[in-house]
Amino acid sequence: MNTLTVDLGERSYPIFIGTDLIADESLYAPYIKGSQVLIVTNETVAPLYLDKVKSALTNFRVDEVILPDGEEYKNLEILNRIYDALLEKQHNRTTTLIALGGGVIGDMTGFAAASYQRGVNFIQVPTTLLSQVDSSVGGKTAVNHPLGKNMIGAFHQPQCVIADTATLNTLPERELSAGIAEVIKYGLICDSEFYNWLEQNTAALMAKDGNALAYAIERSCQDKADVVAQDETEAGIRAILNLGHTFGHAIEAHQGYGNWLHGEAVGTGMLMAADLGYRMGDISAEQVRALRELLIEAGLPVVGPKDMSVEDYTSRMQVDKKVLDGSIRLVLLKRIGEAYITSDIDKGLLTETLVAGENLGCC
Ligand code: NAD
Ligand code: GLY
Repeated sequence: MNTLTVDLGERSYPIFIGTDLIADESLYAPYIKGSQVLIVTNETVAPLYLDKVKSALTNFRVDEVILPDGEEYKNLEILNRIYDALLEKQHNRTTTLIALGGGVIGDMTGFAAASYQRGVNFIQVPTTLLSQVDSSVGGKTAVNHPLGKNMIGAFHQPQCVIADTATLNTLPERELSAGIAEVIKYGLICDSEFYNWLEQNTAALMAKDGNALAYAIERSCQDKADVVAQDETEAGIRAILNLGHTFGHAIEAHQGYGNWLHGEAVGTGMLMAADLGYRMGDISAEQVRALRELLIEAGLPVVGPKDMSVEDYTSRMQVDKKVLDGSIRLVLLKRIGEAYITSDIDKGLLTETLVAGENLGCC
């Protein structure tokens, strides 16, 4: 097992990465301060892993809530089921919530923990690649609103993250690809050496090679922890973690939550951001072309939905959380490994990127 730290002063916490961790009592007990625990999971993950987690918690009073599975259930109505369970089972302010599942469960459980009785503790037990490399780390919690993705939420850091790579053995291939999109993101925004490694090792990740997955998860978590430690609440630099997300959130919201996976939308969005960067004179055509090939190798879509117009994109992009004073702000790439945030965007070039589809400027 490897342990990384998210360095946030008194709110610092460990990320445990390794195989067969979810039934290890010693990883949970030090981070549970009271006697009550509520495990939040969903109907897909529960039959696979709920009993294992419970076996690590025999010294606590454990309750559970099993939510329906899907991004379309990441909303205020379903969130209420967590509060209902907490109140019905009389959980007090020393309770600890455990998020067992992918990013949807992690984000919802985190928001329930942030808001129940004005804030209780929680532990992240991410079981998808995407949640192990991204959503379980950094304290962003949220639910969706029909008009915008992750629009209702809070920053609330977990007590610890337990990333058991063995859980990825049951993960469907499409979900694996969605996770690799966020892994590629770290290479693009801040880690060109890692990006070079990904160009050589994406096939191994797709084959679920244990060593390759462990390395990619550790490197991604380290990159994310470094950014979060600099800017916990996204006053500045943390926004680079949203490369491709403004385009991607527009796709997810337009297509109906759950139809495009978050990672798929982010992957296509990153290529759009790269294409716009190329049109603006930053990243080279060759690098955009290579990114497109890498995304294809990772099993990700490289063209947005055929039924989305420029207006469909721009109207959705206007409700992104990065919008300031009505101006769209985007994360763009100077080059592989260097991202920047700008609202100085030529609308004509943005339109060219949005209509380009399969005929990106580079390709
Ligand atoms: P997800 O939570 O929907 O999980 C994907 C699917 O895999 C689901 O059907 C789930 O039930 C299933 N699953 C989970 N673990 C499994 C396992 N081990 N074996 C088999 N099936 C398993 O999706 P996700 O990709 O993990 O997360 C996407 C969500 O994360 C989005 O809502 C996105 O907004 C959010 N997100 C949040 C942050 C953040 O910083 N908080 C960052 C990135 C993404
Ligand atoms: N996924 C973006 C962030 O955590 O800031």
